[in-house]
Amino acid sequence: MKQSLTFIPTLREVPADADVKSHQLLLRAGFIRQNTSGVYSFLPLGKKVLQKVESIIREEMEVINGVEVFMPALQQAELWQETGRWYNYGPELFRVKDRHERDFALGATHEEVITSLLRDEIKSYKKLPLTLFQIQTKFRDEKRPRFGLLRGREFIMKDAYSFHASKESLDATYEDMKQAYTNIFTRLGLNFRSVIADSGSIGGKDTHEFMVLSEIGEDTIAYSDSSNYAANIEMAEVNIQYVDSEEKQETLKKVETPEQKTIQEVAEFLETVPEKCIKTLVFKADDELIVVLSRGDHEINDIKLKKVLDAQTVEMADPLEVKELLQCEIGSLGPIKLPIGVKVLADHAVKYIVNGVCGANEKGWHYTGANPGRDFSVDEYADLRFIVEGDPSPDGMGTVKFAKGIEVGHIFKLGTTYSIPMDGTFLDENGKSQPYIMGCYGIGVSRVMAAVAEQYNDDYGFMWPNQLSPYDIHLIPVNMKDETQAQMAEELYKLLKSYRYEVLFDDRAERAGVKFADADLIGLPIRVTIGKRASEGIIELKYRQAGETVEVQKEELLEKMQAFFN
Ligand SMILES: Nc1ncnc2c1ncn2[C@@H]1O[C@H](COP(=O)(O)OP(=O)(O)O)[C@@H](O)[C@H]1O
Ligand SMILES: [Mg+2]
Repeated sequence: MKQSLTFIPTLREVPADADVKSHQLLLRAGFIRQNTSGVYSFLPLGKKVLQKVESIIREEMEVINGVEVFMPALQQAELWQETGRWYNYGPELFRVKDRHERDFALGATHEEVITSLLRDEIKSYKKLPLTLFQIQTKFRDEKRPRFGLLRGREFIMKDAYSFHASKESLDATYEDMKQAYTNIFTRLGLNFRSVIADSGSIGGKDTHEFMVLSEIGEDTIAYSDSSNYAANIEMAEVNIQYVDSEEKQETLKKVETPEQKTIQEVAEFLETVPEKCIKTLVFKADDELIVVLSRGDHEINDIKLKKVLDAQTVEMADPLEVKELLQCEIGSLGPIKLPIGVKVLADHAVKYIVNGVCGANEKGWHYTGANPGRDFSVDEYADLRFIVEGDPSPDGMGTVKFAKGIEVGHIFKLGTTYSIPMDGTFLDENGKSQPYIMGCYGIGVSRVMAAVAEQYNDDYGFMWPNQLSPYDIHLIPVNMKDETQAQMAEELYKLLKSYRYEVLFDDRAERAGVKFADADLIGLPIRVTIGKRASEGIIELKYRQAGETVEVQKEELLEKMQAFFN
C-alpha cells in the first residue's frame, strides 16, 4: 500500500486524555480515533491488526470444531425477559425502542439469542454436541469506560457457545476451549495466565479467566510462589489454620477515643495494632441490613459475602440506614449489644481475636478487652475476606503473591442456567426431554489488540510482533525527488509484493525525519530505507524490535526477508 493513498493520521503530541501507553500510541500512530466516550473507529492500520487477531482466533476455534455464525446485535426484549436478565442485568444493558414502542436490547452478550435459535432447531441428542461462535460488536454501557479499547462501551468480542447432552461432554469441550485459548494467547505473543474466576451475572459454576499480566490491569491475580495455583483475588479462598492465643482474657472496658475514626487512628490512639481491632461494617444484602465483622487489617470481599448469604445483590449500606439501625455513625460501630434480630457474620480470623478493640456504637467511644463469644455473638463465621500477599496458597503449596492482570478471555460452564428458563430442550436416547447443558466462552478481540499494544512498544512507538503487524515491511525512500531512489523504491515495492509481503511504501514527499519518526511510531517489524547509497545498489534494513540496522546489497533483500519472517 502506498502511504499517500491510505489514511494514517499520526500525531506528534501525546493526547491529553489518554493515560495508558496503548491508548496513547494507538491514537498517535493513527490506528484508532475516539468518536465518543468508550466508542472508537478503527482506522486502516487498526483494522488490519484487528483482522490478524481475528484470524488467529478463527483458526483455533476451527481446530476444536467451533463453527462460525453471526447473530444480531439488535435483540428483542422478550428474549431477555425469558431469562429475567432484562430486569436484573442492570444499567450496563443498552435498551432502545422501535417506532412501535417495542423494547430491544443492544447485545451485551448472546446467551439468550443463541438459546432461542437452537431450541427451535436442535431437538435430538444426535445433533449434540455443537459449538458455535461469532466475532461481533457488543454494547455495554460501562460505568467507567477507560484506557481506550481496553474498556469500551462498544467493543468487539469473539463469543462461543456450546450445547451438550451430558455434563461429561461439556467438560470435554471446556477443556478443549481452555487449550484453544492457551494456543490463541500464545500465538498472539501475550504474557498471560489462566486463573480461577467468578461467574458474575452470566451464572453457572466452573469458570476461568485468561489474564494478561500488566501493571495497568484492573484485576488482581493471587498466585502461588510454588505451584501453578492462580485465581482472581475475588475468588481466592483463604485457607489458614489460625491458632488460639495464650493471652488471658481481660475485662471489657469502654474508653474515650475522640476524633479517632479509622482503624489505623484508633489502633494508634489505643497503642495497639489493626490485627487486634474488630472492623464492623453494615451491608445491605437484597433488602436486609447485615453486620459483618473482620479483623482490622483485613478487607471484606463482597463476592464471598454474596455467596455465603446466597443473595442477589450485596452492597455497603447507606450511612443513613446504618445510623437508623445502630443509632451511631460510621467510625464507632461495634458488635456489642446490637438490636435483637440483626444478623451478624464474621470472617474466621475474628474468632481468634483476644482482647480486641471495637466501636461502642457511641460516637467517640470504643471498647477494649472485647472477646468474641463472651462479649458479643456471631451468627456465622465464614471465609469473607480478601486473601493478602503472604497468606498460605489455597492449594496448600507455597505462599500467595499478587500480580495485576487484564482480563482478555473468560470461559464458563453454564450448565442449564439458560436452557431451563428458555425451554431449550432435546430428546435424549430414551426419548426423554432434557434441557441442553451449555458452556460459553468469550475473548475481547479489541481488548486483546490493546493488550498487545500495551506489551509491544518503546519510547518511539510500537514494535508489533510479526504475526499481528499491520504490514510486514515499511519501505522508505528518503528523498522521493531523487530519481534513483524513487525508481529503486518502485522496483523493490513490486518485488516484495510479488513475494506476498505486505508492504507499506512511504511515497510521501515528506522530510526524512518525519518519515523515520512515523515509521518508528507505527512500528512495523522491518524498515527498508533507500537513501544516498542507492546509486551503489545499497539499502539499509532496520529491525524494529532488536533496534539493529544493517546495510545490504539490494539483491540480498529477499533472502534477508525470508530469513526474518520464516
Ligand atoms: N467493556 C469492554 N471493553 C472491551 N472488552 C471487554 C469489555 N467487557 C468485556 N470485554 C471482553 O470480553 C470478554 C468476555 O466478557 P465477559 O467475561 O462476559 O465480561 P465481564 O468480565 O466484563 O463480565 C472479557 O474477557 C473481555 O476480554
Ligand atoms: Mg469476564
